Amino acid sequence: MNSVVIEMESESAVQTFDLGFSIGKRAEDGDVFALSGELGSGKTCFTGGLARGLGVGEDYAITSPTFTLINEYSGRCRLYHCDVYRLNSSGDLEDLGFDEYLSGKGVMAIEWAEKIPDALPPQALSISFVYVDENRRKIRINGPAERVRDLLQDILREV
Ligand SMILES: Nc1ncnc2c1ncn2[C@@H]1O[C@H](COP(=O)(O)OP(=O)(O)O)[C@@H](O)[C@H]1O
Ligand SMILES: [Mg+2]
Repeated sequence: MNSVVIEMESESAVQTFDLGFSIGKRAEDGDVFALSGELGSGKTCFTGGLARGLGVGEDYAITSPTFTLINEYSGRCRLYHCDVYRLNSSGDLEDLGFDEYLSGKGVMAIEWAEKIPDALPPQALSISFVYVDENRRKIRINGPAERVRDLLQDILREV
């Protein structure tokens, strides 16, 4: 599969949220967003935008599912938001029913995806967040070229 890498810098939490929102508006069942980056780098902020773009109502707060492991939201598509930080074996992933989520309908956003590289499907879009300073983050998107272009078309038009 032809893959492409897009790098950008976000200058605020709002900008990272808006990136998620633009992508969420175009996301479809089967899209998997593998989010990586240290604590506080913006993974949940991005997922909040993604959820709103998918049509998840404002009355649902998007928070890190660190303890629940997976949160489920309904919008135009279902959104499964998981955080694999606390998982330490593939057995844990099985307990979570990870494969069933992946093979089912819905969009997935996986925080700390760098911990489970072997469990990610080939169509996953990897999005990494790097802390630059209080308000700035480097964001790097890597995935199948065609899907990346489709999902990012609103953003790419601006640059
Ligand atoms: N450019 C930016 N992008 C994303 N978050 C930012 C940015 N600048 C500041 N922040 C702040 O950084 C924090 C990111 O937290 P969060 O999204 O929960 O990170 P993570 O899920 O990666 O641990 C939030 O408090 C957010 O307001
Ligand atoms: Mg988080």
